[in-house]
Amino acid sequence: MKTLGIETSCDETAIAIYDTENGIIGESVFSQIKMHAEYGGVVPELASRDHCVKIVTVLKEALGDIDINTIDQIAYTSGPGLLGALLIGESFAQGLSAALQIPLLPINHLEGHLMSPVMEFPEIQTPYISLLVSGGHSMIVDVKERGAYEILGQSQDDAVGEAFDKVGKLLDLPYPGGPHIEKLALNGNPHAYDFPRPMIHSDNLDLSFSGLKTSVLYTVRDIENMTDEIKADIAASFQQAVIDVLTCKIKKAVEASGRSDVIIAGGVAANKALRAAIKDLENSLGIRVFYPSLKYCGDNAAMIAFVGSLRSSDKIETKASYVRARWPLSELTK
Ligand code: KG4
Ligand code: ZN
Repeated sequence: MKTLGIETSCDETAIAIYDTENGIIGESVFSQIKMHAEYGGVVPELASRDHCVKIVTVLKEALGDIDINTIDQIAYTSGPGLLGALLIGESFAQGLSAALQIPLLPINHLEGHLMSPVMEFPEIQTPYISLLVSGGHSMIVDVKERGAYEILGQSQDDAVGEAFDKVGKLLDLPYPGGPHIEKLALNGNPHAYDFPRPMIHSDNLDLSFSGLKTSVLYTVRDIENMTDEIKADIAASFQQAVIDVLTCKIKKAVEASGRSDVIIAGGVAANKALRAAIKDLENSLGIRVFYPSLKYCGDNAAMIAFVGSLRSSDKIETKASYVRARWPLSELTK
């Protein structure tokens, strides 16, 4: 069975085809990052307009030699995300569904991120713990089975990716700051600045990053002559504080739940220092740690097509809209 996935929740226009027998057989992602970088963040209306402009080209690239008439169903991100951007993906999905007379499945973007390591590593079995860290979300989730997700802890303020991006701005790095901070940190001393590790000692699994970001703000403000060396030290020390908090919380989650598999997902899962630190827990905790390939950490349609392939529908739906800016995992059904 072939499922065509469509992702337009933010600033990536992405389409992929997942075949139950052969996995991902076609995919294409167009990132709008360069356009938004000029404004220091995603401009929602520009994002919607650009999805309109690029989506047909992205579909053609994803299909390659695949005959569109062999697609069995369409899965698309219907939330959470930017409403205008989501509506472009939904309208396009509905048009294809009507033209090809095949069913349509609205998919939750967060579930896509959560399931992307399962797409790549079929040996992962539920239940497992997932650390979902992206630009909009930071949560530790107990994946009991597909469709049954319990949030064990989440950020009370900024998402991890958001903190990376804000610290990036403070250091005059291009948007989004995450990958630039990671690169800069390679040349810095992670112990040069003793930034706070918010909530590291709290007895729950919740997270907080705004105090850490504010601490970086005060540090930067008080430095009279900023140099590349100082920037690298700040980047490395900030990144280390984030990693210390996340590894400590993952350890607590594993100990409390007794789960033996851990996955990391979302854009921040691309951070190699974070991946390595969590991988290090394998021996000490006797667990297995998985993370997606770099291309499946950020937003992509392969994860949406995959989640769609686990479901099936007979609905050729073109008369209702399922788009939601907010769609908590707790409201998902199996
Ligand atoms: O999952 P994603 O592509 O989009 C959302 O759904 O939010 O995540 C984007 C976030 C951005 O905040 C970006 O700075 C962060 O992921 N990110 C990173 C790295 N690559 C992307 N953060 C830290 N280190 C990275 N290498
Ligand atoms: Zn995402």
